[in-house]
Amino acid sequence: MDTLHLKSPRGWINDPNGFIYYRGEYHLFYQRFPYAARWGRMHWGHAVSRDLVHWEHKDIALFPTKKHDRSGCFSGSAVEHNGRLHLFYTGADYTTENPENVNTCLDDIFTASQLSLISENGVDFDNFNAKFTVIPPIEDETAGSKNHTRDPKVWRGKNSWYMILGSTVNQSGRFLFYKSRDLVNWEYLNYSEKQGVGWMWECPDYFKVNAQGVAVFSPMGVLQEPHYSAVTVCTFADFCEETGEMQISGKLQLFDYGEDLYAPQSNLDKDGNRVVIAWARMPEPFDKNRIGMFSIPRVCEVKNGRIYFRPHPNADRLFTRKITSPNEAENGVYKISADMKNGDKINIGGYVLSRENNRLTADRTNVFAGHTEIKCVFRTPEIHDGNHLDIFVDPNLIEVFVNGGEYVLTNVVYGLTNEIKAQNCTLCTVSERLSE
Ligand code: FRU
Repeated sequence: MDTLHLKSPRGWINDPNGFIYYRGEYHLFYQRFPYAARWGRMHWGHAVSRDLVHWEHKDIALFPTKKHDRSGCFSGSAVEHNGRLHLFYTGADYTTENPENVNTCLDDIFTASQLSLISENGVDFDNFNAKFTVIPPIEDETAGSKNHTRDPKVWRGKNSWYMILGSTVNQSGRFLFYKSRDLVNWEYLNYSEKQGVGWMWECPDYFKVNAQGVAVFSPMGVLQEPHYSAVTVCTFADFCEETGEMQISGKLQLFDYGEDLYAPQSNLDKDGNRVVIAWARMPEPFDKNRIGMFSIPRVCEVKNGRIYFRPHPNADRLFTRKITSPNEAENGVYKISADMKNGDKINIGGYVLSRENNRLTADRTNVFAGHTEIKCVFRTPEIHDGNHLDIFVDPNLIEVFVNGGEYVLTNVVYGLTNEIKAQNCTLCTVSERLSE
């Protein structure tokens, strides 16, 4: 059982997939290579939860069985229809396998198809008989890439089901839209693009909050190296079901200002909140051969002309026991509530937050040794909504929520100490025993 953050049970994990509330439980599938702490031929790991913050690990749900997914079951999503769970994902078929490691290919060239697997109950996944291809490889390179088209997110519209895919044409990222009446037969509808935002768009998501359409996606090749060159952004967007056109109407916002989170996926919780969970990219295992974990669930809202991500109330509710020092924290997990004005500084075991000119800066230089290829200092835009910070601390992941989600800044860290230097703050830990 994982509490607060769902973590790799063993081996490598990346993107959340198939996130859904189904038959009274939340299911979170995710990209997993179970055999080693490195990316490889992708499977779908699986965990379930009743409250989004206590996760029970399940067996592998998807693994390669078909020609179209023989090199990996890449990212995708889930919907419920007539009581059944429909999973959608991208199948990869490598053109040239790496002879020294057949779990990877030599040149990033593979054929991408979109597949579905129907599960009767969310427990059994018949990888031999219940999979079928819904969108074969794209042959027209002016419409989309045969290689880089992936990560189907499916949702129910007014009269039909819709799918958004990430793709690329002429080195420029785009969305592709498809439509289906029965979740089995899909027809191409339209595309949408925005120049100058990376060469390929991964893991697209589209939903409405407070009647406002929001698109979240992860363009590749937008940031300067040395750093991750892909980063997740969100923006106001409006999708027209009749024409299949999407207007990307707003400015792009960073999904998270710490730039470690990637490939988020959203769905509704049982109370109708739009909840988002993202993958925290890690440069080294947090525990022997376990690498990768997920953020706490965040509720997406539209406020003051911006997109907010606040902590899910179930994450907040875990922190009931007041403590005076991180030494008393259960397994190093605690939450700090603090007020921070210009000129203030908080040092959380070597991770330093400071506020100047109404911008928050996070510096992880002291708790990220040896990773000079990845950025250590991050800064939010100007803060408008107040002085409050809610900081969730786990020994390897710090999530800083500014003013209930005006900005969020999340960073992976290694080797935090138990020393805190801060004014005006309270500390709470969880009141239950956590497993290692
Ligand atoms: C994003 C991503 C997806 C792909 C998956 C493969 O991190 O590259 O686009 O489906 O990971 O693991």
